[in-house]
Amino acid sequence: MRQTILTGDRPTGPLHLGHYAGSLAARVELQRSHATYILIADLQALTDHADRPEEIRRNVIEVALDYLAVGIDPGVSTIVVQSGVPELAELTGYFLNLVTVARLERNPTVKEEIRHKGFGGEIPAGFLVYPVSQAADITAFKAHLVPVGADQIPMIEQTVEIVRRFNRLYGAILVEPEAVVPRIARLPGIDGRSKMSKSLGNAIYLSDLPDVITDKVMRMYTDPRHARVEDPGQVEGNVVFTYLEAFDPDRAGLEKLKERYRAGGVGDVPLKHHLVDVLHDLLAPIRTRRQDLARHPEQILRILKDGTERGRAVAQATVTEARRSMHLDYETAPWDRQAS
Ligand code: TRP
Repeated sequence: MRQTILTGDRPTGPLHLGHYAGSLAARVELQRSHATYILIADLQALTDHADRPEEIRRNVIEVALDYLAVGIDPGVSTIVVQSGVPELAELTGYFLNLVTVARLERNPTVKEEIRHKGFGGEIPAGFLVYPVSQAADITAFKAHLVPVGADQIPMIEQTVEIVRRFNRLYGAILVEPEAVVPRIARLPGIDGRSKMSKSLGNAIYLSDLPDVITDKVMRMYTDPRHARVEDPGQVEGNVVFTYLEAFDPDRAGLEKLKERYRAGGVGDVPLKHHLVDVLHDLLAPIRTRRQDLARHPEQILRILKDGTERGRAVAQATVTEARRSMHLDYETAPWDRQAS
């Protein structure tokens, strides 16, 4: 039997290179050999953007454009809008009984996000429990594999715990998922900070124009001790090399370049120009496809509608099964039960 993949993104803005390296490239590669579901997680986006629903709705379309532009094929992959599948909220409700508040507060990714988002002590309850709703996303589709960046590994761990607890209490109907983590598990932002993100303003977007990309690469952080061209340079922790590691298709050429940089004699400007070329080669066809697709919004909407309907049918089947195993099935509701 073909294995199932589920993964997703919050529609809080256009997707960037961090998404590409972390998960999009793997999805494109795996979509023909796996049953692939890709979730545009608008409900999850509301957990920290409750005041901006129109923005999230607009971004659903932007994210769909990014998916199609990078090569997600709607003929083989199913793109699902989370809010179109209310069964996910239902499953989240059942799962909430299977985790403790203390466990939620220990999730390292959520902890880091809480620090960065400046909730100032006013953490939305929905935000704290979003890993539980993510567990519902993954299990509703009975996913075996979840391609994600390193920051999402705690979510998969929490999902596995919930699945085990559910299966033990109610019967083994849910699938334990596994994370698929890429070669470059965490792409830093152009400032060298841990993660590329919209809120830190350090991202290169898939839809950035060539001049913008060049400008961002030229501002990138390299090795501060590599002041003169002749100085030996450090490759590890050098953001330009991390990006080349992620995106340069010429692996042998990259190994040679690293050696020369370490020995001294390669300047940061030509090094950055090389990265600019690599990124232009990667992003130019994506940008062109995106512009073509954006001219036919009605096609995008049809793809989302079809995908959401197909995805909903899968989630409905799982929830029906879950309810039955929890003695909540409609067919045997207390008021329907024959006196026996
Ligand atoms: N939390 C993910 C992110 O921040 C998005 C997401 C929502 C997701 N549901 C998912 C990822 C299910 C993998 C599986 O981008």
